[in-house]
Amino acid sequence: MSVTREAPAQRTAAPGLDALRRQDPRIADILIGETQRQATTLQLIAAENFTSPAVLAALGSPLANKYAEGYPGARHHGGCELVDAAERIAIERATALFGAEHANVQPHSGSSAVLAAYAALLRPGDTVLAMGLPYGGHLTHGSPANFSGRWFDFVGYGVDAESGLIDYHQVRHLARQHRPKAIVCGSISYPRHLDYEQFRDIADEVGAYLIADAAHPIGLVAGGAAPNPVPYADVVCATTHKVLRGPRGGMILCGSELAERIDRAVFPFTQGGAQMHTIAAKAVAFGEAATPAFTAYAHQVVANAKELAAALAAEGFAVLTDGTDTHIIGADPARLGVEGRVARGRLAAAGIVLDTCALPYGDGRGIRLGTAAVTTQGMGRPEMGRIAALFTAALRDEASARDLREKVQELVGGHPPFPG
Ligand SMILES: Cc1ncc(COP(=O)(O)O)c(C=O)c1O
Repeated sequence: MSVTREAPAQRTAAPGLDALRRQDPRIADILIGETQRQATTLQLIAAENFTSPAVLAALGSPLANKYAEGYPGARHHGGCELVDAAERIAIERATALFGAEHANVQPHSGSSAVLAAYAALLRPGDTVLAMGLPYGGHLTHGSPANFSGRWFDFVGYGVDAESGLIDYHQVRHLARQHRPKAIVCGSISYPRHLDYEQFRDIADEVGAYLIADAAHPIGLVAGGAAPNPVPYADVVCATTHKVLRGPRGGMILCGSELAERIDRAVFPFTQGGAQMHTIAAKAVAFGEAATPAFTAYAHQVVANAKELAAALAAEGFAVLTDGTDTHIIGADPARLGVEGRVARGRLAAAGIVLDTCALPYGDGRGIRLGTAAVTTQGMGRPEMGRIAALFTAALRDEASARDLREKVQELVGGHPPFPG
């Protein structure tokens, strides 16, 4: 029987939307729909941002085709000369940007970076002190649903019930009591700067490693708008896709004495082949983050967050820790008569996209939002006031969701995330 084969589709470096539409309209429609969703609603998820066209170009490039197990100059595959150069540039830029002796740019995500840090420093059953999940700890900080909670013995520190701030006396007390092998500082929702010097001091007192999980603030660190954990922590784990505005991915920074252990913990212990298109995109993002424009951006992100936090407080929200030092705002909408999950639903109906978060000492959930994406869109202080007013109107049912959506579209339309 003869088999008729279709001629293979011509491969191009960037097939583009028209080609995708012809070949796979269902996926093309999703891509177009998602682009429109991002461009017509308000993106306030604290962990999201809009990458640059240059980052997207690297991500959608033929580097995605390349297998590259190992590290530059020591790969298990041939043909790696050019991707080796990309990874070397990413490492060079990351170490320069954060003042680190060593960078591993291969972790596929923030969670993969944390997994590798634990693999490098700990053994199953070791005790680890980290922020408890109800106070803002990440899943990788001891959740029973995550490898961390299953393989290690996590002890959680909290925040002060009145101020919502980390109680460093409690951290020290728990460290003395439990003698952890490692202390983790970092959070998904803590809006204040961390005192890395205090954490270092506590870790030194009990002979623990200090792991900074800087997934959120690392972009602010790059722009000089938040303290740098690198001089204090043994290992710094981070994501590259939040304020830092790179591709989805992770990174680890450390001193040269731990470099080999960290590298082996990433590959071959916890990961396989590196994603070279993502690593090239990380290099592009690190290059962008080293510019004065990014420094101005990072400071504007914080100024916007402070403005928005104050505006929300004026509208009746209970703002956690009474404000923010970063891009993150936590707020309890209870005084407006709604619980966090209900608030998220009403805001979503109005085209305002954000997360809920745990309330350390309250009932129900609060809302967590961030200013990284809206700042990339060019919004400033006046827009923060408008956003706060839209929140209140949505939660108090002062206008129909349709009217609010129109107002949101008008606001976003003046600051398009994908100009042109
Ligand atoms: C503190 C912290 N650690 C780790 C992660 C995990 O990052 P990823 O979702 O890329 O695995 C996050 C993500 O938000 C985070 O906030």
